[in-house]
Amino acid sequence: MSHRTPPQQAALDRSAALEQQVQAAPRTFRVLTGDRPTGPLHIGHYLGTLANRVRLQNLGVEVIVLIADYQVMTDQRASQQLPATVRGVVADYLAAGIDPNRSTIFTHSAVPALNELVLPFLSLVSDAELHRNPTVKAEAEATGRPPTGLMLTYPVHQAADILFCHANLVPVGLDQLPHLEATRLIARRFNERYASRSPLFPEPDALLTATPMLAGLDGKKMSKTRGNGIALHATEDHTAAMIRRAPTDSERCITYDPIARPAVANLLDLLAAASGANPQQLADEIGNRGAGHLKKMLTETINELLRPVRRRRADLAEDTCYLDSVLDTGNTRARRLADSTLTKVHDLLGMTYANR
Ligand code: TRP
Repeated sequence: MSHRTPPQQAALDRSAALEQQVQAAPRTFRVLTGDRPTGPLHIGHYLGTLANRVRLQNLGVEVIVLIADYQVMTDQRASQQLPATVRGVVADYLAAGIDPNRSTIFTHSAVPALNELVLPFLSLVSDAELHRNPTVKAEAEATGRPPTGLMLTYPVHQAADILFCHANLVPVGLDQLPHLEATRLIARRFNERYASRSPLFPEPDALLTATPMLAGLDGKKMSKTRGNGIALHATEDHTAAMIRRAPTDSERCITYDPIARPAVANLLDLLAAASGANPQQLADEIGNRGAGHLKKMLTETINELLRPVRRRRADLAEDTCYLDSVLDTGNTRARRLADSTLTKVHDLLGMTYANR
């Protein structure tokens, strides 16, 4: 978390200013955010974004949450258990505190008009711009294959995700900033080219949380597919076992030194995020009690934090009818929004002949 590029720092500063506006006038914001349903959500999602979505919702911001099922296809390692995974993600959201009466949860595949927006948007970006996107490059490297057309156009699809509902705020981790830049560019170009008199799309802002990127227990990027994050639904024993296995180093005294002692610093970062404390102070406190004590504190803190979430989730997971009804309601609402936006786009593009 210590190495920020100037654009990242600028985005963090801008987020702080936005945060104040959100507090002052929550109802002027519409948030769109989402996850690829590649597996159960984990502690990184919870601390990095889920808790923040719930906070925004409870402040009175309109929150729309996308389960990006079409984008699962960009990840060839992902499991193909989509129905169970998607229902699991819905259960994770609700357990974390997303309230389906106030917020909207929907999937890509249920909203054709959203996906259709990708076509006009594709005309607004060049091939070179698509290849330049750092997140796309990183993901292609991670899979060891050249990017598919879907992977390459991921930022354009994400622009459709955000712009179909005119969202003006997107809570994201630092790694997603390039995607958001692409969305802003597409909104700007669409407005310039087709709607110069009265812009159709807002240029959405990123809202970064205080803990934008937490590494997994092995120090690598926390990911559902790597299995290095503690799932929201994991049992307390499983949580303890995962933390016990996490690497540390051979020095007894705990100090916070992300460069020289990354494994220990990583666990301290996680503990700090889960407890709202400062990693440096935690290290001082633990000192000679060593890594065993650090792990014990981490286990207890995470299990305590997640206990109510896990209890709610266990009840929800059994009620697939209810989970499906939540999605159904969200999908209907998202379709209404997307249809209305696509109609406006068709009008602006002059596609106004028949069957309207
Ligand atoms: N890219 C996000 C992820 O990998 C998921 C996502 C898809 C998303 N569309 C979005 C996030 C739009 C925010 C806004 O988890």
